[in-house]
Amino acid sequence: MQNQSQHHALIQSLPKAELHVHIEGTFEPELMFEIAQRNHVDIPYASVDDLKKAYDFHNLQSFLDIYYAGANVLLHEQDFYDLTYAYFEKCKADNVVHTEIFFDPQTHTDRGVAFATVINGIERACQDAKKNLGISSYLIMCFLRHLSEEAAFETLAQAKPYKDKIIAVGLDSSEVGHPPSKFERVFKEAKTQGYLIVAHAGEEGPPEYIWEALDLLQVNRIDHGVRCEEDEQLMARLIAEKMPLTVCPLSNLKLCVVDDMQQHNIKRLLDQGVNVTVNSDDPAYFGGYMNDNFYAISDALDLSSQDIRQLASNSFQASFLPEAEKAQWMEKVVKS
Ligand code: ADE
Ligand code: ZN
Repeated sequence: MQNQSQHHALIQSLPKAELHVHIEGTFEPELMFEIAQRNHVDIPYASVDDLKKAYDFHNLQSFLDIYYAGANVLLHEQDFYDLTYAYFEKCKADNVVHTEIFFDPQTHTDRGVAFATVINGIERACQDAKKNLGISSYLIMCFLRHLSEEAAFETLAQAKPYKDKIIAVGLDSSEVGHPPSKFERVFKEAKTQGYLIVAHAGEEGPPEYIWEALDLLQVNRIDHGVRCEEDEQLMARLIAEKMPLTVCPLSNLKLCVVDDMQQHNIKRLLDQGVNVTVNSDDPAYFGGYMNDNFYAISDALDLSSQDIRQLASNSFQASFLPEAEKAQWMEKVVKS
């Protein structure tokens, strides 16, 4: 118990970077109700408690159905600002000093909300968070993989005027049945335009999807990737290339990727030399932000203080920050 509280204090005190968080997944029910009311949009739940009771997921799709419904209340630039700034306040509380935020333009543009409305609101919150809270951030634009390649190309075209505000493109939504190969051409074009590349792979999908993300999309990081353990050759490749995996423990638990946290493979992956990081994915839906994810794995997997430091250090090493900034933060992790 003593050890546990010391470890929690260490987790709290270390600077950390978050590399896998969907801004739409940080939408807390209280803010959702507030924005719904001011926008005169109906939510099919009587109260915050009623809504929270619906957060009983059994797989990725059962979550995504509710997640997309929640995003429907976001209409105006100020809504995207409020959503994003509220997430930065959570970062501040958890000593997350840098974050690389996913946003899903298609979730909004398909409802008639302009691309500019979405990105301008998010971007203004990023600037204010830097100024007021000292937190740096990058934006990663994700294509919804249940939609077509053509729709992804359209989204890439819409992003063109905002190219300098977006560091990378990613791939999310329903994984099984929508392999990375479906989007090979649009990612090739994105890379040509100068974007860095990430993709969700190996969350529910098989190791073959991770191979495709590496070989066809030429990713700089894999999001989730926890099913890599099923393929020895893939493990060897990830380790040799120091390919980062942005692992999301509470998400994996909530979406039944693992049955309980003691079964989670993040510690085994870390011990084998995989470049794993800890992230919150959709924290408003999965029961916690960055530090809650750390506490959960630290307690269930009996992490050492060295493991905790390594994970915090990996978060900077795997980030898209300039090398000099990465090095400064990694030194702070060692000295904290
Ligand atoms: N979109 C939001 N959260 C996601 C997840 N965990 N997997 C795939 N797509 C998502
Ligand atoms: Zn995700």
